[in-house]
Amino acid sequence: MDELGRKDHITFNHSSRVAKIAMFFAKELGLSKKERQMLEVGALLHDIGKIKIDGAILKKSGKLTKEEFDEVKKHPLYGFEILENWGISKVISQLALYHHERWDGNGYPYGLAGEEIPFLSRLLSLADTLEAMTGIRPYRKPFTWKEAYIEIDNNAGTQFDPQLVKEFLKCMEKKELLSIIPSL
Ligand SMILES: [Fe+2]
Repeated sequence: MDELGRKDHITFNHSSRVAKIAMFFAKELGLSKKERQMLEVGALLHDIGKIKIDGAILKKSGKLTKEEFDEVKKHPLYGFEILENWGISKVISQLALYHHERWDGNGYPYGLAGEEIPFLSRLLSLADTLEAMTGIRPYRKPFTWKEAYIEIDNNAGTQFDPQLVKEFLKCMEKKELLSIIPSL
């Protein structure tokens, strides 16, 4: 994490905020302590593969070229390889591998669909997206909480597991969620 923090502080802050959101959600869903621990570590490390991607691409403020985006799309696989090398639990390395898969099969790296995507990865993708939309980035204005809520609702059944979206939106309606996210 330190290495990623030095190279890319946006990813570092992003990951800690994603972990907080994911933990809140997991608790509301009543997940076991073991699952929550796996999810927390996986959320903190899900973008670790970005350390293998050129910093100039990660920090680019304009639109990425197709080649650059193809490179960025390798970070789940890179992350999986790094975590496998560490000998870390498969549940955690799979969180890195599958966090950009989509319910409708249009995600990456494999285009898995529906329940082919592990449950915790489907959950992480909601936390990841909420942070990505509402967090501060140099290249765009953040979504308001309400805009993010509507966007996530609109993507139920396409990007996200529709059942999980229902539960996630209930979490977003709770004020505590906003207050526990570390500020940027
Ligand atoms: Fe990612």
